[in-house]
Amino acid sequence: MCGIIGCISKKPVSDILIDGLKRLEYRGYDSAGIVVLENGVFRSEKTAGKIADLEELLKDQVFLGNTGIGHTRWATHGTPSTCNAHPFFSCDGSVAIVHNGIIENYQEIRNELIKKKHRFLSETDSEVVVHLVEDYLKTHEPLKAVRLSCNKLEGSFAMVFMFTDYPGLLIGARLYSPLVVGLGKKQTFLASDVPAFLRHTKKVVYLKDKEVVQINKCQMKVVDFRGKKKDYQIDRVKWDIQSAEKEGYAHFMLKEIEEQPEAIRRTVNYPHYSTLERIRNKFKDVHRVVLVACGTAWHVALASKYAIEELARVPADAILGSEFRYAPPPLDKNTLVIAVSQSGETADTLAAVRCAKEHGTFCMAICNVVGSSLTREVDITLYTYAGPEISVASTKAYTAQLSLLTLFAVYLAKAKKTISPKVERGLLNQIKTLPDKIKQVLSERDVIEKCAEAYKRVNNFMYIGRRNNLASACEGALKMKEISYTHAEGYGAGEMKHGPLALVDGSFPTVAIVLKDRVYVKMLSNIQEIKARGGVVIAIATKGDKNIKRIADWVIEIPNVSEILSTILIAVPLQLLAYYTAVKKGREIDQPRNLAKSVTVE
Ligand code: G6P
Repeated sequence: MCGIIGCISKKPVSDILIDGLKRLEYRGYDSAGIVVLENGVFRSEKTAGKIADLEELLKDQVFLGNTGIGHTRWATHGTPSTCNAHPFFSCDGSVAIVHNGIIENYQEIRNELIKKKHRFLSETDSEVVVHLVEDYLKTHEPLKAVRLSCNKLEGSFAMVFMFTDYPGLLIGARLYSPLVVGLGKKQTFLASDVPAFLRHTKKVVYLKDKEVVQINKCQMKVVDFRGKKKDYQIDRVKWDIQSAEKEGYAHFMLKEIEEQPEAIRRTVNYPHYSTLERIRNKFKDVHRVVLVACGTAWHVALASKYAIEELARVPADAILGSEFRYAPPPLDKNTLVIAVSQSGETADTLAAVRCAKEHGTFCMAICNVVGSSLTREVDITLYTYAGPEISVASTKAYTAQLSLLTLFAVYLAKAKKTISPKVERGLLNQIKTLPDKIKQVLSERDVIEKCAEAYKRVNNFMYIGRRNNLASACEGALKMKEISYTHAEGYGAGEMKHGPLALVDGSFPTVAIVLKDRVYVKMLSNIQEIKARGGVVIAIATKGDKNIKRIADWVIEIPNVSEILSTILIAVPLQLLAYYTAVKKGREIDQPRNLAKSVTVE
């Protein structure tokens, strides 16, 4: 939540900051602001609203400073107003800060600082930090002042500071929120995420927790919170800026939906088996799997539980990141915890992993972002190669995660000798056919768009499925809610008669996932029960199914695929239905209200 950027350059940085903030806008879009150092004084502009509103304010102004910082906010403490927009400044106007995270003990620090006559202009937790640094600066140089301040803070933060008395200096610090350094030829960056500066450089340093970085012109120094010098590694980002651009699509979400065949192809073609083989003994002895995740990634966990149990015959559970540490499941050395996260920065998922590690449990991550916090906390990471996902609503990361976890379930089954080489080969071959099958599903977009047009005015949708496609039903409903703002519920089809059937009438359509699998006949009965009560049914069905055409009002077809892999194909029409409904309702597709892509607060 919140995107931050800092830049030192040989040229004016305001345009670079704005461009960077636009690429971080997926992290929050309640307010935005920048500050640059111009002739020894700060020049700043900030406003409630989006980066476009900030740009509007800046359009007739010329900012000349070569050092600057910027922020795009997802409000936690204080309303999304201009007064609560970052950057914040010290009382004497010599220090500026942008912050991502939450300072949990801010009230206590604020009270102490008020006693020392500091004046606060906002309701935010972030503002205390700049006053704290100002206080330490009376007796210490900037790096130490920031470091000492960090030691007093509780919570999570990534922050960047600049100082009027030290032109060309930026200091960044992090604890549980991401901060990356970008090393360009004539400019250096600090940002929450790589796309912020990717058009300028691919050379990056992922800062670790409890590190402070000082960037001075082209020099860089990293210390820990105690002041001990730390080594750092320079990495090279493999993807390029096009993957983080819309490239002619109306929305990132549509682009990302269409990128799914490639995202899956890259993910499943990577030699994950060799990574896993290195610790084969570990997997051989696993007797319980606990999947942990939030949001869309949790639906991946829920669906993957079935694949793991069915193939590897190991009990598996899917637990919400926000629940895990308050009700930890039994964990021991033969339990495998799998954390699923696109960003690798979701606070609740990270907290769950930390809790599991405290119990000495082996943890594996399924993650899309190289160098993210999650990947550093776990014992092993399997990466999805979906490329950058910008739209707040997750699509290609979801299907890439599902594909990778199915691959893992096959591997685990092999390690535990619960499948024959023939079945293993068959499944691996089927996984490889997924990209082509997804292309076939994408060609159904016209009927899906028509369906969205027909129901764009309804206030409620029910989504039903069974087994692994109960997870699909929940994911379909989540997509509909988050981008179209239409109430939707995902339900086990067999549970309809225990309550939700009372809701059904002609204005409450049900999206039913009804494939030619072991629950097909049961699903048909559940659909009949809905039809008998005047309900409208939009069926997602196996291609060529004549029965369903006779019963359902709408049929969206997907190619025949094994039950375990069906969640991956089913995702696509559900994503498109939500997308077109939201477009027809005139919603902000890529940046739905009140949400943010990377939820770095608990
Ligand atoms: C937010 C996003 C979702 C995402 C969830 C978990 O709610 O809007 O799309 O599924 O966070 O994020 P993660 O990065 O851990 O997968």
